Amino acid sequence: MNNAKPVASIQHAPFFLLFLLAISPLSTLCEGKITQGFDFLQLLQGCHKGQTVTGLHELKKYLKKFGYVNSQDDLCEHARDDEFDEVLESQIRNYQLNYHFDPTGILDAQTVRQMMTPRCGCKDTLRATIPARSWKHRTDGGERSTIDLNVSDYSYFPGKPKWSKTDLTYGFSSSASDIDARTFKSVAESSLAKWAAVSGFSFEEASSTNSDVVFGVHRYEHGDGAPFDGNGGVLAHAFAPSIGWCHFDADENWSTNPGPREFDLETAAIHEMGHVLGLGHSYEPDAIMYPSIPPGTKKRDLHENDVQGIQTLYSIST
Ligand SMILES: *[C@@H]1O[C@H](CO)[C@@H](O)[C@H](O)[C@H]1NC(C)=O
Ligand SMILES: *[C@@H]1O[C@H](CO)[C@@H](O)[C@H](O)[C@H]1NC(C)=O
Ligand SMILES: [Zn+2]
Ligand SMILES: [Zn+2]
Repeated sequence: MNNAKPVASIQHAPFFLLFLLAISPLSTLCEGKITQGFDFLQLLQGCHKGQTVTGLHELKKYLKKFGYVNSQDDLCEHARDDEFDEVLESQIRNYQLNYHFDPTGILDAQTVRQMMTPRCGCKDTLRATIPARSWKHRTDGGERSTIDLNVSDYSYFPGKPKWSKTDLTYGFSSSASDIDARTFKSVAESSLAKWAAVSGFSFEEASSTNSDVVFGVHRYEHGDGAPFDGNGGVLAHAFAPSIGWCHFDADENWSTNPGPREFDLETAAIHEMGHVLGLGHSYEPDAIMYPSIPPGTKKRDLHENDVQGIQTLYSIST
């Protein structure tokens, strides 16, 4: 299903629905994928525990994709249905805690807005995990003080993998050619320069077949088990040390000077290079490693939080 190209843009959805109603039984309609990116979330705003709402299983897939579902919860029957149960509520609370929102467990407007913002495909690191049961019998106001939040905001991949050398080579290998090769190279190189300036890493170009870091432009399924999703939604992703893959979704409206419906390629490149060097997501909204980026936004300078994250990982003192 992920491989199918979106068949209708959101503006055409009502007509497309009527068309579907005319030609297919209702059961097909319910499974039909008519939205792009994270648009399905809009219809779920206001949902809370105890409800059964069509589309909640999509939210469960979303939370799993971005790191909010542990393997134990995933085994449960309700991982795939449309019921808003206690497990889903606690996953939403963990999401809200990550993003510094009130952990209401309700799909409120703020939470939906954040979830719908286009983002990196890498999983979020949980700042806090609260087992569903521990939320019971709490009185108002007492909740937050009992949660042991990691307040550093930056994070690493599980097990803190990092490079064991500081001289890295980089190359290019793409299966799609939607970004001009010269532009892609110069943007990739300026992202490398940003990290080199604060981290002690140096980068030298080499052939893509034996370089440490490989930049690529791809679409949908592209051989690494993490298919892209067409226009909107996930913009790019990268892998932990020392894999070195740094991939951009060919179907995004990339730009080096983004308008209101375009994304800044350099912002994404700096973010993904942070992953390549070993950083996970940060929940400081101004950090490069913040998971999401609205269209039309440039964020091309490392934040103090990003610098602290990389320098702590590699024990660099300033
Ligand atoms: C908080 O996060 C930092 C960075 O990921 C990590 O080094 C540290 O061990 C964490 N502290 C706690 C108490 O979990
Ligand atoms: C990309 O551009 C097209 C054409 O302007 C627009 O319809 C679409 O909404 C844009 N995508 C995003 C995610 O803004
Ligand atoms: Zn990311
Ligand atoms: Zn990839």
